[in-house]
Amino acid sequence: MKRILVTGGAGFIGANFVRHMIMHSDVEITVLDKMTYAANRASLSGLDEQRVKLVIGNICDGAVVNELVPQHDAVVHFAAETHNDNSLHDPRSFVTTNILGTVELLEAVRRHGVRLHHISTDEVYGDLEFDDPQRFTELTAYNPSSPYSATKASSDMLVRAWIRSFGVVATLSNCSNNYGPYQHVEKFIPRQITNILDGQRPKLYGNGRNVRDWIHVSDHSSAVQRILESGEFGRTYLIGADGEQDNLSVLRLILELMGKDERFLDWVPDRQGHDRRYAIDATPLRHELSWEPRYTDLRLGLEQTIDWYRKNRDWWQPSKSDTEKRYSYQASQAAKVAI
Ligand code: NAD
Ligand code: TYD
Repeated sequence: MKRILVTGGAGFIGANFVRHMIMHSDVEITVLDKMTYAANRASLSGLDEQRVKLVIGNICDGAVVNELVPQHDAVVHFAAETHNDNSLHDPRSFVTTNILGTVELLEAVRRHGVRLHHISTDEVYGDLEFDDPQRFTELTAYNPSSPYSATKASSDMLVRAWIRSFGVVATLSNCSNNYGPYQHVEKFIPRQITNILDGQRPKLYGNGRNVRDWIHVSDHSSAVQRILESGEFGRTYLIGADGEQDNLSVLRLILELMGKDERFLDWVPDRQGHDRRYAIDATPLRHELSWEPRYTDLRLGLEQTIDWYRKNRDWWQPSKSDTEKRYSYQASQAAKVAI
């Protein structure tokens, strides 16, 4: 595999994946990215321009997709609208990009006989009870809760249908919550770190007991590389690193690492339909593809992530105030609906 088309490669996980592949393989990469509010050109800065090219374009644009896909040996599809809170306020853009955009790519890889790896989330499975001993596996039934997870579930189903009906050569992966450098400040961990750096109080939804299964983004990248190189066509792999933590515990750890009192936070109204708990069983990936996560110490990972945001204010500062304005607007809209 020499040339890879990475959709959404200027976003958080896509950019980390591009950096990982440049470091750990000899591939050449084209990034296809619409450069929405979630993208940042600086996330790809410093990379060898002979090996990484950025094409600004929309995955829903058949002409662009059909020009690029046949120039590559594989497509790794990260591009999506990704934030649950936004999907509650503007679901249509999620339907357009996550569903129709994926169809455009599927038609192109089918037409040109190019291999696809589709990136998805564990949120397609809905949520677990706090005391449920089961975790998500490849056999768990789909039961998405939010407009975001419903559109990701739809895209997964479409990929499976194109594999079955048209023999498209594809793999899928569903990963748990990622954290690490280059993550947009709308998401939980970077929002709280950058609030504290700005002297603002972190915001915790509901009672803070919701559980997420955290994985460092570098481990997600190494898992996707392993699936690309050795995954069985047609298969779905779950990616997770046994990192279950409730939101209050994560926030307390961040506060401690940043030298703040554990009461330095605002309890804010809960997210509508807020999933209680996610948890991944990644046994097949570990046993069949011999993948092991390397960054499983959350305290150390958070320490490094905090350090990254401290040193890279130029990267996040320009989007911080717009993000917080968007949160205030969404809260005011939710309050109107409640009245
Ligand atoms: P992100 O929001 O940081 O980045 C998404 C990227 O996609 C952005 O660069 C954006 O400009 C681009 N994009 C959006 N619409 C586009 C379009 N129509 N055409 C071309 N590019 C477009 O997202 P992320 O957190 O990096 O997530 C990447 C993928 O990983 C998504 O598919 C998401 O569902 C999946 N995922 C994310 C997590 C997580 O914890 N963030 C966990 C599991 C899976
Ligand atoms: P988020 O990063 O939005 O990821 P996801 O919705 O995909 O899990 O949120 C992670 C968890 O943090 C989720 O339970 C919601 C919660 N949360 C807060 O408590 N406060 C916040 O400001 C944000 C953005 C999220």
